[in-house]
This record gives sequence, structure tokens and C-alpha cells, in this order.
Amino acid sequence: MEEYVASGTRKYLRQMERLANSAEPTNIKDWNHWYAFDTIGELALGDNFHLLDGESNTDFVDLVAAHMKLGATFFCCQWLGKYIINPYIPLQWVKDAMYRREALKTVTTQLIHKRLAKGSDRKDILARLIEARDPDTGEPLEEAELQTEAWSNIVAGSDTTATSLTSIMFRVMKNPRIYDRLVTEIRTAFPPHSNEVPTYAQTNKLPYLQACIKEALRVLPAIGRPLPRVVPPEGKTLAGETFPEGVIVGIPAWTVHRDPKVWGDDADIYRPERWLEGDAAKYDRYFIPFSIGPRACIGRNIALMELALLTTALLAKYDIALVDPKQVCPAHNGTNDQDLELDHWMISTPHKPVTVTVSKAQPLV
Ligand code: HEM
Repeated sequence: MEEYVASGTRKYLRQMERLANSAEPTNIKDWNHWYAFDTIGELALGDNFHLLDGESNTDFVDLVAAHMKLGATFFCCQWLGKYIINPYIPLQWVKDAMYRREALKTVTTQLIHKRLAKGSDRKDILARLIEARDPDTGEPLEEAELQTEAWSNIVAGSDTTATSLTSIMFRVMKNPRIYDRLVTEIRTAFPPHSNEVPTYAQTNKLPYLQACIKEALRVLPAIGRPLPRVVPPEGKTLAGETFPEGVIVGIPAWTVHRDPKVWGDDADIYRPERWLEGDAAKYDRYFIPFSIGPRACIGRNIALMELALLTTALLAKYDIALVDPKQVCPAHNGTNDQDLELDHWMISTPHKPVTVTVSKAQPLV
């Protein structure tokens, strides 16, 4: 799978080279979305959306965003579902969202159909699903099931990864001390003149990079909302309170990740060093950006690979800087004034453009 992540990373770098030559400011949030979409397209559908090539229409990002908006609305008020999608109720944003959702489904359906018809020796997620057999019947997945799986991966693995990338970049750019320490670690291992995209194994040997990634996922878990779990027939005692069968419970990652009782008084502050201090292992229990248990994120390792490869490859060769270094979120709703301003639908995504300049990195002196 790594080859597909690396090929997306190379395309991203080619675009950064162009931007560095033109000195043109750019919205890095868009590039992160296009990278995440193209990469998950390669992995889940065996083809990418060509967003990083600038060849395709970037509506794909909006298609998933519309789906998330609809999903979040139903999620909060399930009873609303049957009214809200009623075609006679003139809610324009719902109609738009439904239309876009269908458009994304059509693309997914066509690409899966093409892949099954033509066959392929690619080693992507889709290949693993096509090879999978039911352990009881020996039957493969049906085409409709493959479409559903691919669709889930596209929806679950695009905005989440893009938001996390933007969170890493934004916070590192906001903190010159952290930026300097990170680029020094990266450029010592990968000097700017090197044209190779680092491997995942190599990035795992960069402790400060790993700490910056974890800390960004802590302060901004892309799915920060509670994920529902139904209490089983025997009931369940959680945090000292007993819940009867059928009650829906959930813990928001956002709340756990910012609890001062766990993280200390600086829980709201982006401080990667906390992951490198003596007792850092105690934090792992409370670090749940991918959730935990049998329904936890199946794309976790791919996501971590994307975050590590892109961040390393980008900062090895380029410097990035916020055009407005004072860009902040007005402090409210649990955020502090260093946070990114977010839209909280199913997934939290940056609300405003994150405009940066890109320039060629100087070798370390
Ligand atoms: C930083 C990026 C990502 C984050 C923060 C993230 C987070 C999550 C979370 C919190 C869940 C919910 C688990 C639960 O209900 O307990 C989830 C589910 C899921 N994720 Fe991810 N994810 C990311 C990237 C990906 C990627 C790249 C893929 C695909 C390769 C992916 C595929 C999925 C799928 C298919 C599910 C549904 C699993 C199920 O319902 O059983 N995710 N993810």
C-alpha cells in the first residue's frame, strides 16, 4: 500500500515546487484534501480522482462534505431523518446534499465495476476485498458489497486525514520553536537535495515528528464527537454509573483529549514534548483519535503513514509559513485562541482557508 501513499506524496511535492517557484500564496487546506482524496481513491478504488494533477473537478471534496453534513444531522436527530429527506419538504441544502451523495456513489460504482471487469494485479485495499472469502461459505463479496466497502473507506478516510494534516501543519507553523525543532530533525535525516520520498519505516525513527503527529491528533481528533454504543442486555457500569439495556452511550474523543485531569493544566496547548517525557506511556490509554475496540478505525495505519510521509517529505524540501501568522480561532466552545477555527459536522474540518507561502528549504548549517 505504501507505494500509493508515496506516489501521492510525490505529486504533492511537484505542486509545492511549482508554488515555491512562483511565490504564490496557497490554501494548504485544499492541497491536503486533494492529497487525502487522491490517496484514498488509489487505495479504495484502484484509481485516483486526479485532484493533485489539477485535471479533475474538485467537487469530490464537497461531495463528501455534503454527505457528512447530512450524516451528522441524522446522527443527532434520528427521528428527523424521515421528514428531512422527504422530497416535498423544500430544504434546499438537504436536496443538494442528497444529490451530491448520489454523485459520489455513482463514481464509486463505476470504478468498482471497471475494476471487476478488467481485473488488476494492484495490491490495494480493493484487491484485498476482492480476494476475501466468507470463512463459512467460501463466497466472495458481491459487487454491491464491494461498492459499500469502498464508499465507507472513501468517506471515512478522506476528510479525516486531510483535517489531521492541516492540524499538524497549522500548529507547527504557529509555533516557531516547534517548527525549528521539527525541521531540524527531518532535514538531518533527509537533506533538502534528496529526491526520495522517505519510507514509513524511516519516518517511524523520527521521535519529534511522531510526537508532533500524535499531539495534533490529540488537540484535534477529526471525529471528536461521541461514537454511539448500545448497552447490552446485562447492563453496563461506566465511570461508576450503571446503565440499563438499550441506552446509547458514547465518549467524545475531544473531551477526553482535553481533560486537565489527564493531560495537566496545559491540556489545551499544542506541546509535542509531552509525548517524549518520562511518563508519556500513561497517556496512551486516553489517546483515542481512532477510537478503540472492535469498531475502531480500520484505516489507522494507513492514515498514520499518510501523515508521516507527507509531513516529512514536505518539510524536508520546503519551508511553509502562514501568510497571517496571527491567524487564530476566537476562543470559545472548548477551543483556545491558538486553535484552528472548525466546522463540527460528522468530522471537524477547518472553517477558513489556511493560506501559506511555500519556499525552498535551505540546507542546515
Ligand atoms: C487521521 C485519519 C483518520 C481518523 C482520525 C479516523 C478515525 C476514525 C474513527 C474515530 C472511527 C470510528 C470508530 C468507531 O466507531 O469506534 C473510524 C472508522 C473507520 N475508519 Fe477511520 N480514521 C482516519 C482515517 C481512515 C482511513 C485512511 C481509512 C481507510 C483507509 C479509514 C477507514 C475507516 C472505516 C472503514 C471506518 C468504519 C469502521 C467500522 O464501522 O467498523 N479511516 N475512523
